[in-house]
Amino acid sequence: MADGSPVRQAMRSSSYSFTGRRRRTTTSSRLAARVACHEFSQPIPVPSATRSSTRSTCSTTGITAAVSLINPINSITGVNLDNFAPEPTIDGKGSHGGYCGPAVKPIAMNMVAEIARDGETRGLPISGIGGITLWRDAAEFMALGAGNVQICTAAMAYGFKIVRELIAGLEDWMDSQGYQRLDQFIGKAVPAITDWQYLNLNFVTKARIDQDACIKCGRCHIACEDTSHQAITNMVDGVRHFEVIEEECVGCNLCVNVCPVENCITMEPLAVGTLDKRTGIPVSPTYANWTQHPNNPSARQAAE
Ligand SMILES: Cc1cc2nc3c(=O)[nH]c(=O)nc-3n(C[C@H](O)[C@H](O)[C@H](O)COP(=O)(O)O)c2cc1C
Ligand code: SF4
Ligand code: SF4
Repeated sequence: MADGSPVRQAMRSSSYSFTGRRRRTTTSSRLAARVACHEFSQPIPVPSATRSSTRSTCSTTGITAAVSLINPINSITGVNLDNFAPEPTIDGKGSHGGYCGPAVKPIAMNMVAEIARDGETRGLPISGIGGITLWRDAAEFMALGAGNVQICTAAMAYGFKIVRELIAGLEDWMDSQGYQRLDQFIGKAVPAITDWQYLNLNFVTKARIDQDACIKCGRCHIACEDTSHQAITNMVDGVRHFEVIEEECVGCNLCVNVCPVENCITMEPLAVGTLDKRTGIPVSPTYANWTQHPNNPSARQAAE
């Protein structure tokens, strides 16, 4: 992409205040300032979404113009078991620190998405923060409704040069997808987010293990055996063999998460009409969710 690309234009048009007045800067220092600019905001809770955000609120009208989130999450990372004080210990005492970086990205993305889809806050400009390191992180935040992103930990760990990689990566991806402008994908994932009780219970998937890729480590078996539905073998005919027992698999995804080999375990949807060997019922084409399920006491009460 040329220098006039939407990503670069967005970076150029950003303004900020470091010391109360605007400064002319290079791209690097501009981004440095954006990293730090929200330090001057007041933390104010956003209703029903997050306690870890900052709002820009007009003091005359009281109208919230925008939100930026998330700030670090209060955390104690360790306790010294010799002096029984949190680490780092200062003169025998410790305090909470701020958890940030890649570990908080899932929390931050959920909060951004909640604001983007909540009826009260929908449409509010959002600046996404929390664990952004690579271009893909930025694109994901934007797909969930963030109009721009800020970075702190990654800049501290790798230096401001990572921003150039973010720009290049985002531009390459936008080119490959045919996006000319950022607003063509900002918020694009928001309509696909729902509350868990509205997920389609008639969408049935079963885990499948690629026997050629399997290294026979046994992690999937242990996870499923001890904490899920005992749906993965570990021995067949006296030989180590890991295979999904369809009659038991509930499609919980746990085995996919613990398998160390990428794409070795995949979740395969059953086509409508296919017999689900676990329930003995063909997969229904009708959408059904937990609010209507007979095992749900609230649904039963409502029907009575
Ligand atoms: C060392 C450090 C100091 C920070 N100081 C502030 C601060 O003074 N005010 C503020 O609002 N956020 C502060 N933050 C939070 C960051 O601006 C950012 O919201 C948070 O770290 C999450 O983003 P990240 O995962 O990219 O680091 C600080 C973060 C770090 C790591
Ligand atoms: S999806 Fe869940 S139930 Fe099915 S095999 Fe994997 S861990 Fe077991
Ligand atoms: S976790 Fe993956 S690699 Fe290990 S036994 Fe299971 S399927 Fe094979």
